[in-house]
Amino acid sequence: MNKKTIRDVDVKGRKVLVRVDFNVPIQDGKVADDTRIRAALPTIRYLLDHGAAVILMSHLGRPKGKPDPKYSLQPVAEHLATLLGQPVKFCPETVGPRAEAMARELKPGEVMLLENTRFHPGERKNDPEFARQLAALAGPDGLFVNDAFGSAHRAHASVVGVAQYLPAVAGFLMEKELQFLGRLLTSPERPFVAILGGAKISDKIGVIRSLLQKADKLLIGGGMANTFFKALGYEVGDSLVEDEVVPEARAILEDAGEALVLPVDAVIADRFAADAARRVVPVDQVPPGWRILDIGPQTVERFKAELRGAKTVFWNGPMGVFEFPPFAEGTFAIARAVADLKDAVTVIGGGDSVSAVKQAGVADKITHISTGGGASLEFLEGKELPGVAVLEDK
Ligand code: 3PG
Repeated sequence: MNKKTIRDVDVKGRKVLVRVDFNVPIQDGKVADDTRIRAALPTIRYLLDHGAAVILMSHLGRPKGKPDPKYSLQPVAEHLATLLGQPVKFCPETVGPRAEAMARELKPGEVMLLENTRFHPGERKNDPEFARQLAALAGPDGLFVNDAFGSAHRAHASVVGVAQYLPAVAGFLMEKELQFLGRLLTSPERPFVAILGGAKISDKIGVIRSLLQKADKLLIGGGMANTFFKALGYEVGDSLVEDEVVPEARAILEDAGEALVLPVDAVIADRFAADAARRVVPVDQVPPGWRILDIGPQTVERFKAELRGAKTVFWNGPMGVFEFPPFAEGTFAIARAVADLKDAVTVIGGGDSVSAVKQAGVADKITHISTGGGASLEFLEGKELPGVAVLEDK
């Protein structure tokens, strides 16, 4: 990686403004999954241990540019304090007199968390004045650290704008993500097998095209496969299809040849419900009124055969509606198959596939679980992420 990290700068005695991605699920006022918070701990601990005062900022959810208690970061501050084993001062505003006073009084070795950056209308607009106010919290000798890989595809004030006012370097999570995902693009050990799933194909066209260039095989499952079936002229009943993307899917099929592998059978349902009637059929024999909700057992075997011997695997997106237990087997079977690969570098990105490997109980057997969903896909599409572009080169 050619970007400077916190190892390359002196942080002692400085106030460091750190963008983290604490966009985590909150249930009943508590953090329901702290993966992203834990992933930022090495950076926070390093800064504290090296004499910095740490001002953390993040978004949570998609509030509309004004405060909304549902999206407060207060529960995250409490959870982080437990993980760090030290107090985390929570500032109920993002910028303003209270934030300024708290930041001014913050001592080396102390940590504070600002309220949700998206409570301010300037965040999503990358408003320079909002960015300046955020940066000013770190004072004249301040430093900006971006450790929010999951948000690096957003050109927002706390990700990009602040770098206009402060020297900007990467944190350890950002560095690790860029190393693992970068290797997929530049020097994957082969064979490299990519697996894409999820409901929609329209937002994944770019990454499909890119992975077809980089990987030896691209296995496609989930709802997005249906649009390919339609392009092949199959009847897919009531399955989700994006009709406007059918011509593009046809063009991809022609260009990809044998590199693209589609399901051969499917688990179908007579309605979208966990207790729907269920059958297994070849993908070109979906009766009217039925819909595809999972890949079938023959497809699982075919995909497992493609994965055998792989040295690099990237997986994003479930193979079916795995929230419904009768339609979860395809996704869990792929999770286990990826986890069972002994000599492969396995990388998983995207919230749903990450929860699938966790639910399948195999998360600890995956080489790298990315904290970025959209960010990892845009990166693999070959796009320069704005939150990375602003960091200083080595
Ligand atoms: C994510 O969860 O992918 C990131 O935190 C970005 O969130 P956003 O899609 O609301 O910008």
